[in-house]
Amino acid sequence: MALGEGEGSDGLLKAQAHVWNHILNFINSMSLKCAIQLGIPDIIHHHGRPITLSELVAALSLPSSKTDYVGRLMRILVHSGIFAGQTNNENLEYSYILTPSSKFLLKDHPANMSPLVLSILDPILLMPWHVLSSCFGQDEPTSFEMIHDASFWDIVGRHTEIGNNFNVGMANDSHFVMTLVVREYEVFQGLNSLVDVGGGTGAATKMIAEAFPRIKCTSYDLPHVVATLAESAIVDSMGGDMFESIPHADAVFLKWILHDWGDEDCVKILRLCKEAIPSREEGGKVIIVDMVVKENMGDQELRETQLFFDMLMMVDFGGKERNEHEWQKIFQDAGFTQYKIQPVLGARSIIELYP
Ligand SMILES: C[S@@+](CC[C@H](N)C(=O)[O-])C[C@H]1O[C@@H](n2cnc3c(N)ncnc32)[C@H](O)[C@@H]1O
Repeated sequence: MALGEGEGSDGLLKAQAHVWNHILNFINSMSLKCAIQLGIPDIIHHHGRPITLSELVAALSLPSSKTDYVGRLMRILVHSGIFAGQTNNENLEYSYILTPSSKFLLKDHPANMSPLVLSILDPILLMPWHVLSSCFGQDEPTSFEMIHDASFWDIVGRHTEIGNNFNVGMANDSHFVMTLVVREYEVFQGLNSLVDVGGGTGAATKMIAEAFPRIKCTSYDLPHVVATLAESAIVDSMGGDMFESIPHADAVFLKWILHDWGDEDCVKILRLCKEAIPSREEGGKVIIVDMVVKENMGDQELRETQLFFDMLMMVDFGGKERNEHEWQKIFQDAGFTQYKIQPVLGARSIIELYP
């Protein structure tokens, strides 16, 4: 093939830059991780006013020879919108400030995402990506199992730091999302009991119990996860396997569970959910917080979040992010007749499922 037949050099150079940027996309993730490990978001926050490069280097207690490194790290993170930069009108000094995104990285932010950055970008959890192409040609269900010979949950259970960061990150996410769900949407009204299946640390369960004290709330997860939970006055906890049984309640809550699993497993879980709840007339329902993928999602950033998560689910769990048609099929196969989707949580939706 001849180079650039029928194409202008501008177009060719842009096309090449597009490939370069795909090769180097990991640098966005790794620069973010580096800034968190150095503690930069909290330093800017505690500084209380825009911070100059020299003030940042001093606060980081780094040798002044590394000023150039810090400036270049900050430049790419300003470019990607994690931080912002501004120039003081009087002395023309350039300084850095937090953006709405970097506020989600602060230690005292209730929805701090830094633990998730550190767990998802841990070398152990990144290893499966290096064997993704080989996984396509093998029977092994996931790249994760191919490289680790164990499931994601086994590895997260074995590596305490990854596990703690993952669990804290998930709990922080629950704090954020459930604040919106309990405040703005009428999904829990009228229930007397609820079981949060795969409830993890019980963060979401606790928020439901606090907002609706009349609901008897139970967090249900694998026995080794439940064994680590502190006793709570408002939430019961129960260990078990959601593929074997699900405790009875008016409603089953599944936040970020079904996308971890393939279609057959989802049907198995939902069938047991159906056995666990009463009829629709008696108030029975399943409440799901998960993504509903839209091909024509107007917001390109949210579209990208959905596509990234879909790949993450494929690599780590053999799960997937589903469109409405795919959800509908699973619901029908599990014996549910009606559902309602509210696409109100950014990339995620609230789905109510009725027997
Ligand atoms: C992605 S996390 C979601 C945690 C929580 N729902 C949240 O959104 O923060 C999935 C949870 O499913 C739990 N899990 C995995 N397999 C399970 C099983 N067979 N039975 C019960 N829970 C399980 C994991 O321990 C983990 O806490």
